[in-house]
Amino acid sequence: MRHIISPTDLTLTELDELLNLAEDIIKSPKKYSDACHRKKLATLFYEPSTRTRLSFEAAMLNLGGSILGFSSGDASSASKGESVADTIRVISSYADICAIRHPKEGAPYVASLHSSIPVINAGDGGHNHPTQTFTDLLTIKNLKGRFDNLTVGFCGDLKFGRTVHSLIGALSRYNNIKFVLISPEELQVPSYIKDQVLDPQNIPYEEVKSLESAMPDLDILYMTRVQKERFFNEEDYIRLKDTYILNSRKMSLAKEDMLVLHPLPRVNEIAVEVDDDPRAVYFKQAQFGVYVRMALIILLLREGEGRPIC
Ligand code: NCD
Repeated sequence: MRHIISPTDLTLTELDELLNLAEDIIKSPKKYSDACHRKKLATLFYEPSTRTRLSFEAAMLNLGGSILGFSSGDASSASKGESVADTIRVISSYADICAIRHPKEGAPYVASLHSSIPVINAGDGGHNHPTQTFTDLLTIKNLKGRFDNLTVGFCGDLKFGRTVHSLIGALSRYNNIKFVLISPEELQVPSYIKDQVLDPQNIPYEEVKSLESAMPDLDILYMTRVQKERFFNEEDYIRLKDTYILNSRKMSLAKEDMLVLHPLPRVNEIAVEVDDDPRAVYFKQAQFGVYVRMALIILLLREGEGRPIC
């Protein structure tokens, strides 16, 4: 049984297969319109979501499958005290594959230990968000054409932003990658990312406070929202929330082919005026999320039938 808990659960070859399949789906969507006929996807969302849940559901519907699930823990038996382990044992007999989002780090992993269907982590607390990373990688592949030789800036809440943690892990596997980590001191990348991912692989990175001075070097700028829901006190959130606001003036400091990505939702960190800049690709990125999730569902269900991803 294959589960996706972290983006590096796929080897580089498997990841290539996933992204190539996603690009083939973009080219010939009709070819896949029945690929998951009679299959069911369960979406177990214990935390708010717009894009991740709906793009998973759209993905399964595009493949001719069906969907079931809940969009808040309050609407499930979690509110009565049921454990994730018990829930997934039951859901395993209702669906063929499931995507789970949970505020507690590690909850999807625990689910995977008790599941007889593939479990996909759709975001666990401030930890990981592998399918957003696959979306980000498809965006970079499609619009930039390479993963090697990139200087990637991450800006905003690098402490709690799970999309940042996952994408750093995934990009660290490519050649000549350099990271510029732009955040206030309080929101720097957690030390486990440095100790377990960056340092052992000798990935060059710098931690800086100024977005302006980092701009000219970047091939990709990954903006993030300050994660209000993970703060222990509101005062800190209010003090830090508007530290960075990307606007047209700052964009004028960037390379002509730099891409701006953002997992969305955006709050204040990108001024609306930037949306018309051709380098702003975050809405396109959200569209890619459907195709990459279609590809992932196909590959995991195939593997469940004994056909390895590669
Ligand atoms: C992200 C998340 O949930 O981590 N959203 C998403 O899935 N596209 C980013 C965020 O909430 O800031």
